[in-house]
Amino acid sequence: MLAVLKRNAEDVSLHTAKLIAGAIRRKPALRLGMATGNTMVGVYRELVQMHREEGLDFSRVVTFNLDEYLGVDANHPGSLRHFMDEHFFTKVNLAPANIHAPDGTIRGGYEEYCAGYEKAIREAGGIDVQLLGIGRNGHIGFNEPTSSLGSRTRLKVLGDETIADNYKLFGTIGDVPKCAITVGIGTILECKRILLLATGDAKADAVMKAIEGPVTSAVPASALQHHPDVTFILDEGAAARLSQKEYYRRVLEMTERLTPERLS
Ligand code: GLP
Repeated sequence: MLAVLKRNAEDVSLHTAKLIAGAIRRKPALRLGMATGNTMVGVYRELVQMHREEGLDFSRVVTFNLDEYLGVDANHPGSLRHFMDEHFFTKVNLAPANIHAPDGTIRGGYEEYCAGYEKAIREAGGIDVQLLGIGRNGHIGFNEPTSSLGSRTRLKVLGDETIADNYKLFGTIGDVPKCAITVGIGTILECKRILLLATGDAKADAVMKAIEGPVTSAVPASALQHHPDVTFILDEGAAARLSQKEYYRRVLEMTERLTPERLS
């Protein structure tokens, strides 16, 4: 585990975008796992800017989104597909056929649909770099607390905290879909490299439990402790409750010195 401690959300976004850009330059057909949420807005803004100003080329990149609310289509302002279209997909040169995201409009046949999504990831060769945010309750994707740490893509019932955090684009709390399709924790753990971003002190507790707490389904992000290549990119607020900050800084410094390729 690497923890990269940054001053603010802008630096978190820029650092993450640079890591992704480096990965695309090394491997133009990169398979990239996409996440949504406010934390990701700055990352996509930086990547769009790199595309426009430096010619960062997404034409061969293949994307897989983590999750989608059930019962909403891409035109709904609360849908995660709408978020992706608005912040990223329509602003870079991704090939439409290379974009994959769970379809929130399916009705029934969920198990087959989710197995098909897993198959598409496998057939693409697996995900090289997975972006993740984290919920205040420690969720990743929409894997709510008590999700199996070996779970695969499936329907998930959303918890109260998640519904309360995401109601604005739906109108009222009662309008938020009760279910979502999400890639599973087991699926996430198979990605080659994971970048988890968190900003702001509302995430400090979840981040501390994910990094320094026991591995438990009560904090889904703690499962990442089993992954061999996960980097937490945090601002001061999100890192506030970590007890080993000085150690993480030293690890980063030594990584920069001894294996700088891991950071590019
Ligand atoms: C949603 C998404 C998660 C995301 C989380 C945090 O619940 N399903 O993938 O990580 O929100 O979002 P934000 O960055 O807005 O705090």
